[in-house]
Order: sequence, then structure tokens, then C-alpha cells
Amino acid sequence: MSEIDLEAKQLEIIDNINSANNLDELEQTRISVLGKKGIITQEMKSLGKFDGDKRRQMGQQLNIIKSKIIEAINEKEELFKQQELNKKLASETIDVSLPARNKRIGKLHPIPQTVEEIVAIFGEMGFLVAEGPDVEDDWHNFQALNIPPSHPARQMQDTFYTKGIDERGASSVLRTHTSPVQIRTMKNEKENLEKGKPIRIIAPGRTFRCDSDLTHTPMFHQVEGLVIDEQVNFSHLKGVLKSFVEAYFEIDDVPLQFRPSFFPFTEPSAEVDIGCSRKDGTLKIGAGADWLEILGCGMIHPNVLENCGIDSNKYQGFAFGMGIERIAMLKYGINDLRTFFDSDIRWLEHYGFSSFDIPSLVRGL
Ligand code: PHE
Repeated sequence: MSEIDLEAKQLEIIDNINSANNLDELEQTRISVLGKKGIITQEMKSLGKFDGDKRRQMGQQLNIIKSKIIEAINEKEELFKQQELNKKLASETIDVSLPARNKRIGKLHPIPQTVEEIVAIFGEMGFLVAEGPDVEDDWHNFQALNIPPSHPARQMQDTFYTKGIDERGASSVLRTHTSPVQIRTMKNEKENLEKGKPIRIIAPGRTFRCDSDLTHTPMFHQVEGLVIDEQVNFSHLKGVLKSFVEAYFEIDDVPLQFRPSFFPFTEPSAEVDIGCSRKDGTLKIGAGADWLEILGCGMIHPNVLENCGIDSNKYQGFAFGMGIERIAMLKYGINDLRTFFDSDIRWLEHYGFSSFDIPSLVRGL
């Protein structure tokens, strides 16, 4: 190649280097120029055919061209590496101005969740939430509820007695049911009732019985319901319970069966079963061949109204009491009662609820 040709070749090579689109193409160019069979290498080898000054001059020129090419390749390579780094940096950008991600802290236990659901449903029906103490006196837990001291119902309830003595001389108890809240509410609301404001409350809370086996825990939860007005009858009770059961289980038609029963504070009394099927060992709530007991209820006994100073000739009412664990187990497929109280974090992860999952009938339970 003449000097002129070399000059032109150099420009062409540099052009090739600059127009390489990636490291691979650049490497191809490098090999075709500087590799064993590359143009420049070949030219170097053929210097032998010149002599003397010409060879030296051509050799110098080739060396200059070679180093310019190497420089161009290095520059281009550097550029590609820089581009790659920029791309990587861009993909790993952290936008520190973004709002913090909402990190969930813990979960809501199914019992408070179920209580919220119950409150939402009865709230829609116009019920208010009432409360009473966990440590009750004998009068509220038993006597006012038409359970005198010698009554066999006291043995039925496996009561935890405390060492304290109440103002009537009886020992206080850990309430064995939420029914004492009926008494507290009737006494508190008696005057409003007489002014024409009906009583409509539910009272969810802890209850205690000295009993512990597969299906009983010493502490469990109940929800009490109480309605008192001038024209209340058993069909109201049925309607309220049917509406509740259907809203709670989110099923359109759940048959209810009222079985005659006995509670000292209601007359007549009933236990309520809901329809279900147990095909192939799986329990399904709704119309089916089987029944499942879920609550006790009845019309308030006149003695109970009178114990609270309410005229039983003018007012009637109904009450019901339901186990919360039981209905939570049925809805959420929890089959061992005792797991509610094991404080097993894995269980809670599985059965728990997000604290933002607030039940409402409008948005769904
Ligand atoms: N207190 C009853 C129980 O614990 C349930 C009940 C409540 C029954 C209200 C009738 C009316 O078993």
C-alpha cells in the first residue's frame, strides 16, 4: 500500500470504529485490523519488501497509524462501558422523594374482626353497642336474671368466684355470660324507654367458665342482644336473627330452626340452629340436610323486667346470646377452638386480618 492508501485506510478504519454499535462490533473491527490476519498486521509483515529509508519511513507511519487506531478503539470501548454503567445506574435509581411504603405491622385476630362484623350488621339494624365489666357481682350475673342462689343453673355455668364480696354480701364472679349487660342496660335506659325510646343493644365481650377441653376454653367471647319496646314479639326475634345470619355468612337464604329450650331469664326460650350440609366431611352453611346450633334466645322473662324496674305489663322484649369463637370458626374454617388462644404468630398470619380491613355492610364484610 502506498502512503496515500494508508492514509485513506486509516480514515476508513477509524470511521468503522466510531460507527460500531456495541462492544462486539468493535471487537470484530479490532480483529480485522490488529488481529493476526488484520490489515495493519499484514502491512507490518510486508515491510520487508521495502528497503532502507523507505522501510523505516513506512514502519514509522504504520506505527503511528496503529497507535491512533488503538487509541480510537480504547476510546470507543470506554464510551460503551460508560453507557452501560449509566444504564445500570438509571435502572437502580432510588427516588428518595417517593412516599414511604406502607409496611404492615401485625394482623388483627379473628375475634376482634368478627366482633367488628357483628357490630356492623347490628349497627345497620339500629342496635347500639353496650358494655359491662368482666368481674360482675352475683346480682347482675345471676339474681337479676331470675337465677336465685339455689338455682341449678348456677352449677350448669361452672362459675369462677372471686374472693371479693359485693355490697349485697355475695361474692363477685367472672361473668359467665354477657347477659348481665342486659340488666345494666335496662336499669340505665329505663327512663328513656318510658319516654318512648326503645332499647336496642348488642353487647360483645369476654366471658369465663371453669371448663377446659377440646371445645371449651376458660375464657371465650359472647355477644348479647337485647330489644325492649311496647310491641315486641317472637317474630321480631326471628326476623332479626335471620337477617343477621344471612348478612354474617353472606348467604341469601339460611334456614333457621328454633328448638324449645330453657333459660331462667327468658320465657319462652329457644336454641337456634342454622341449616348446613356435611357432605364428604366438609361443612357448608345454608340449606342442607343438617342443623348446627349457634345461639340461645327467648322473650325476656317478666321477672327480669321487674327486677330492672320495667313494667312487664307494658313492655316486652327479646334477648339472644351467641358464642363468638363458634361463629368465627364456622365462617373462617378454623377447626380447633384452642388455637384462638395459642398466640401462634403463624396462625395469626394465616387467619388474621389487615387492620385496614374494617367491615361494613356497604363495602362488604
Ligand atoms: N346467656 C345464655 C348463655 O350463656 C345465652 C342467652 C342469652 C340465652 C340471652 C337467652 C337469651 O348460654
